[in-house]
Amino acid sequence: MAVIPVDVAGRPYEVHVGTGLLADLAALCGKRLRKREVPVITDRNVHAAWGSTVEAALRDAGHVAQWRILPPGEHTKSWNELAATVDWLLGLEVERGDNIIALGGGVIGDLTGFCASVLKRGCNFIQIPTSLLAQVDSSVGGKTAINTAAGKNLVGAFHQPSLVIADLAVLETLPRRELLAGYAEVVKYGLLGDAAFFAWCEDNAVGLIDGDTAAREYAVAQSVAAKARIVAEDEFERTGARALLNLGHTFGHALEAETGFSDRLLHGEAVGMGMALAARYSARKGLMAETEAERVHAHLVAVGLTASLSALDLECDGAVLVRHMLHDKKMDAGTLPFVLMRGIGAAFLDRHVDLNDVAAFLDHQLSA
Ligand SMILES: NC(=O)c1ccc[n+]([C@@H]2O[C@H](COP(=O)([O-])OP(=O)(O)OC[C@H]3O[C@@H](n4cnc5c(N)ncnc54)[C@H](O)[C@@H]3O)[C@@H](O)[C@H]2O)c1
Repeated sequence: MAVIPVDVAGRPYEVHVGTGLLADLAALCGKRLRKREVPVITDRNVHAAWGSTVEAALRDAGHVAQWRILPPGEHTKSWNELAATVDWLLGLEVERGDNIIALGGGVIGDLTGFCASVLKRGCNFIQIPTSLLAQVDSSVGGKTAINTAAGKNLVGAFHQPSLVIADLAVLETLPRRELLAGYAEVVKYGLLGDAAFFAWCEDNAVGLIDGDTAAREYAVAQSVAAKARIVAEDEFERTGARALLNLGHTFGHALEAETGFSDRLLHGEAVGMGMALAARYSARKGLMAETEAERVHAHLVAVGLTASLSALDLECDGAVLVRHMLHDKKMDAGTLPFVLMRGIGAAFLDRHVDLNDVAAFLDHQLSA
C-alpha cells in the first residue's frame, strides 16, 4: 500500500492506495468515524457492486451505514440533489466534526464534497473513489461542484477531504470504457510534468488497462503524488501551477460542449483527444517537435483512445469549437489561458493564444 500526503496548509490529509482496502475501511478511518451511524453517499451502480463490502466492513467495526443511493450520471450533480442530500444529512443530525463518506466516481465525490462544504458551514468528508478518474484526479485536491443550466461545475467550493481511500480492487467492476477514459487523466501527469512517467506509461499502459494490479498501483500512486504536489503548491488555483492540470481540458471542453455533454464523448475521452490536440497545436507553433506530438497521439491510440478529431464526425467548423471555449470557466478577464507543451513533460500556461489561429488549426484537424 502507498500512503501519499497532501500537504495543504492547515488541513493536511492522506491518500491511501492499495488493493482490498475497503475491508479495512473502519480501521483506516479510525477516530474520524465518531458515531455508530455513518452516512454513506453513493450511486446505484457502485452500491450494487460494493455496497455489501462497505456495509460489512462498517458493521464489523460496530458501525451502521446510513445509505443515500443516488442515480448514476452527471444529472445527479444538481441543485435538486444538493438540497435533498443536505436535508437528508440534517435529518441524520450530522455535526461539523463528523465525516460523511463519498463512495463513487467523480459525480458522487463532487456532490458529497459540496454538501460537506455547506453543511453547518463545513463538515468533514472521506473520499472513497471507485472510478479510475476519481482515484487519480477528482478525489484529491478539494474541488467540489454541481452543474447548473448555465454549464458544468459552475457552482462549487474548495473543500478538502479528511482522508482518501483508493482501493484498486473496485476497478474490477468499472466498465472498460470508463477505465480508458480515466486513463487519459493518468497519462496527463506524464505529459504535463514527468517525461519518465510518460515513458513508463508507454511501456505499461496496456497491462494496466488489462488488469495488472502492480501497474495500476504504481500509476495511481504516481498520479496522486503528482496531483498532491501541485495542489499543495497552489490549492486555490491562484499562481498558475494548478492550472497545468487543465492540460487537454480547453480543447476537450469544446468537444464535450459540441457533443452535448453526452455519452457520445465521456469527459476523459475528451481530455485524451484534447491532449493530442494541445500537442499538435504546440508543434504547429514550433514549441514542440512534430515527432513528440506524434508520440502523444500514438500512445493514446495504442491504449484504445480516439485521438483524431476527424473520427468524431462533428458537423461544425473550428470557429464553432472556439466559441464553445469562450464559455469555459477558465476564461479570465477576456483571455483564455491554454496549457501548451514545450515537449513531453514540459507543459506551461500560455495566456496569449490567438483564437483565430486555433480555429484555423481546428479546421485542419476536423478534415485531416
Ligand atoms: N473535483 C475535481 O477535481 C474533478 C476532476 C475531474 C473530474 N471531475 C468530475 O468528475 C465527474 C466524472 O467522474 P467519473 O468519470 O468518475 O464519472 P461517474 O462518477 O459518473 O462514474 C462513471 C460511471 O461509472 C460507474 N462506476 C463508478 N465506479 C464504479 C465501479 N467501481 N464499478 C462499477 N461502476 C462504477 C458510475 O456509476 C458511473 O455510471 C464529472 O462530473 C467531472 O466534472 C471532478
